[in-house]
Amino acid sequence: MIDKSLQQLLRQTSNIVALTGAGVSAESGIPTFRDAQQGMWANFDPMELATLEGFLRQPHKVWDWYQQRREMAAKAQPNAAHLALAEWQEQLEQCLIVTQNVDGLHQRAGSLHVIELHGNLHRDRPISQQLPAEKAADLPRCPETGNVLRPDVVWFGEMLPEGAMEQALSAIEVSDLVLSIGTSAVVQPAASIPLHALENGVPVVEINPETTELSSAADWSLRGSAADVVPQLVAAAQLHYSRDRLSR
Ligand code: OAD
Repeated sequence: MIDKSLQQLLRQTSNIVALTGAGVSAESGIPTFRDAQQGMWANFDPMELATLEGFLRQPHKVWDWYQQRREMAAKAQPNAAHLALAEWQEQLEQCLIVTQNVDGLHQRAGSLHVIELHGNLHRDRPISQQLPAEKAADLPRCPETGNVLRPDVVWFGEMLPEGAMEQALSAIEVSDLVLSIGTSAVVQPAASIPLHALENGVPVVEINPETTELSSAADWSLRGSAADVVPQLVAAAQLHYSRDRLSR
């Protein structure tokens, strides 16, 4: 799976950006969004559950769904892909994880440099709108402002956290390898991250069991699960670090 030229590249690499999506947490038991049968958007309506308009219409329904997702994420454990990336981060000069996931599993695996493009499931933030009293009854409220709280995730049509994309794109410009792991590469602006790498002559490796929008453009498209392939990549790079250490 890892050919000679990729192995060579991995051994020379000291600065990586890894874009991750729902597929990286699939083997921790968290469903992806676009899987035909078990994907969340096959069973739930994103316009109801992942838009501000949907929240303002049915805040209790949205909160119930996020509460279930919170509990699921809290019970889940980081898998071999999260752990391998965290280990790699310790060894590389720079290894920035740019994730679309809101489950916090990269951090729980020990990764320190993580940009959360779509926010974090475990945090709340107040809404600026006022809800009618009967709709707002029993909803969590901000202790300071008294405003109704919502999950601190990015919903469709909303802006990403300030500076997140800029930081990711600048990191790519000085990186020597970009990984796109477990993402269908269709949701913008995250999907433009690996394309930005290609435009800047930075090689891109995709890890996904399925073909995606990115597959034909990526320099390497590795067909396999994240928990299987990511540790192999880190192991292939490792030979370089240990040799390096020995020679010092
Ligand atoms: P998707 O559900 O669109 O895509 C998940 C990808 O993971 C697919 O390409 C799968 O083939 C792949 N996959 C499945 N199992 C895998 C495994 N074990 N290892 C590696 N890959 C695997 O999820 P995202 O691309 O993350 O946004 O979706 C992006 C955004 O769309 C999400 O952040 C979410 C969603 O709507 C918001 O909620 C704002």
